[in-house]
Amino acid sequence: MTRDKTALELSIAAALLLATHFAEAGSIMGSPHDFTVYNWSGGQVCIACHNPQSANTTVTAAPQWNHTLSAQSYTLYSTASLKANVNQPGMRSKLCLSCHDGTVAVDSFGGASGTQYISRAKNVGVTLKDDHPIGFVYDTALANLSGTLFDPASKSVTIGSGGSTQTGTISSLLLYDGGQLECSSCHDVHNKYTAGSSGLMKIGSAGSAICMACHNK
Ligand code: HEC
Ligand code: HEC
Ligand code: HEC
Ligand code: HEC
Repeated sequence: MTRDKTALELSIAAALLLATHFAEAGSIMGSPHDFTVYNWSGGQVCIACHNPQSANTTVTAAPQWNHTLSAQSYTLYSTASLKANVNQPGMRSKLCLSCHDGTVAVDSFGGASGTQYISRAKNVGVTLKDDHPIGFVYDTALANLSGTLFDPASKSVTIGSGGSTQTGTISSLLLYDGGQLECSSCHDVHNKYTAGSSGLMKIGSAGSAICMACHNK
């Protein structure tokens, strides 16, 4: 079946072409998500995550999603002090967990079943109880209820470093899909807006700056 390509497909196709040319800091090239270093990528940087030709059209949190999703249900974060209503991870986090929960091979994409799993050090597993809570709405009401969180609608943050930065509210730069806190609240999957030397962090972890972006302590 043929159909006209959408503007998004065309912009990704253009970016795919450009991808071979950018190699400086602030780009995915040379970052831990530069999959061209692995044989299974066939030398392609985007394809394990996006591909216009074999995209999962049910995924709207990222364009042209190509990686096999994980079917896991996760053990969620819970403590007596937590005010947030923590749910199963949102789709945006499930995209990360499709490689990082360790149940689906990193080279399972485009309908193929892979054999290479994420390294033990980068495997967050299916028990999210021991990680920062994700999968909940962080709004003004939660900030008021907690008393030790900034109001995400008004608190200003700067993400990235060097020539690649953005400034805006917590809500506009760190929250997704209706104000949800997800993996991408702290990490930049494309290494475009990152700070610090490790962890693909949007705000550096030195001096706990990333934590102080939201926690008023
Ligand atoms: C490791 C997986 C992964 C790789 C590799 C990857 N992306 Fe993404 N991409 C994502 C995720 C996840 C999102 C959703 C946005 C988010 O959570 O920050 C996204 C979002 C996007 C978007 C929507 C705009 C945006 O930034 O949110 C575009 C366009 C895009 N990616 C293009 C690319 C291109 C082009 C490449 C290759 C140079 C690439 N991506 C490589 C995972 C990936
Ligand atoms: C296609 C599989 C895949 C997807 C999808 C994916 N990653 Fe990764 N990620 C990897 C691999 C492979 C590595 C490198 C592992 C290693 O070095 O052992 C990595 C490394 C990382 C690291 C470690 C960075 C460092 O400095 O060592 C972080 C943080 C990370 N990913 C976060 C994310 C987040 C957040 C998402 C979703 C927005 C995501 N990843 C989506 C495969 C993936
Ligand atoms: C509240 C912030 C925050 C959230 C949300 C978050 N992380 Fe992280 N993550 C961190 C910090 C901080 C580090 C340590 C980074 C460093 O190397 O300095 C880290 C490290 C990692 C690493 C590297 C582990 C290692 O030891 O090398 C991976 C992989 C990772 N995170 C994946 C994820 C995934 C997947 C999610 C969502 C399920 C997620 N993170 C949600 C803050 C966060
Ligand atoms: C994007 C905003 C944001 C960032 C960045 C962030 N947090 Fe949080 N954190 C929250 C919110 C919102 C909650 C939920 C608080 C509640 O419901 O009481 C939370 C909850 C927590 C909890 C659980 C508290 C409890 O009562 O169980 C801990 C611990 C925590 N954060 C530590 C950290 C650390 C450490 C960092 C830095 C690595 C960090 N946070 C970065 C927003 C953030």
